[in-house]
Amino acid sequence: MSIDLDVLNQRFKNESVESLITYFLEAHKGRIALASSYGAEDQVLTDTILKIDSTAKIFTLDTGRLPEETYTVMDQTNQKYGINVEVYCPDGAAVEALYQTQGINGFRMSVENRKTCCQVRKMEPLRRALSGLDVWITGLRRAQSPTRETMQLIEWDEANGLIKLNPLIEWDEDQVWDYIKTNKVPYNVLHTQGYPSIGCAPCTRAIGEGEDIRAGRWWWENPEHKECGLHRRGN
Ligand code: ADX
Ligand code: SF4
Repeated sequence: MSIDLDVLNQRFKNESVESLITYFLEAHKGRIALASSYGAEDQVLTDTILKIDSTAKIFTLDTGRLPEETYTVMDQTNQKYGINVEVYCPDGAAVEALYQTQGINGFRMSVENRKTCCQVRKMEPLRRALSGLDVWITGLRRAQSPTRETMQLIEWDEANGLIKLNPLIEWDEDQVWDYIKTNKVPYNVLHTQGYPSIGCAPCTRAIGEGEDIRAGRWWWENPEHKECGLHRRGN
């Protein structure tokens, strides 16, 4: 698998995002999906993908704790493109058990509690969303965080057992916003209020001038803990 992916990385490293996505949508038809959190990068990919194949699968993980503004852009996106994004929710019994064992906002008490909450609300639904797929597409960019610097355009996702395609891996923030403005793509209004990175409402705050773009995610934790597990490398 790694040899094939090396070849593909070489082949597509100087190609456009459109040609990369066209190749993968054709080669893995019915077994490829975009994971969208409705962040700016994911909105660029939604627009690009649907212009190539209006039936392509897009899914989102609705943790049950998302900001209202995310539901607004979710609705606007469905309306604009005439689609119905697939929504994966956490298992109800697992959420009830979470509340019984750690309380409503138990994720603030410890890193362990926070990871348990992310496991129930994101990781288990992600496992269901990815089942049967060969490839998932993400909006990851290298410049987002030191933990993402070594990510590849096309990589083998060991933790989930499928290919992970990161078409915007080399993009900078200006490219993302140029695309959104030029193509009139709907975006989360929180991006205009100091939120470059948006996750669950209680675990995301606005950042101040000069702060790292992911400083507002799980801001009470040390930086080395600040990944929820969706993009875990290896096992
Ligand atoms: S996270 O790991 O810190 O939550 P981040 O918000 O930076 O991730 O998003 C990176 C990529 O992960 C997104 O571009 C998207 O592909 C995927 N992703 C993150 N959150 C979700 C979600 N709730 N639903 C679907 N995909 C998501
Ligand atoms: Fe729970 Fe916060 Fe993780 Fe959302 S980001 S799943 S609320 S701990």
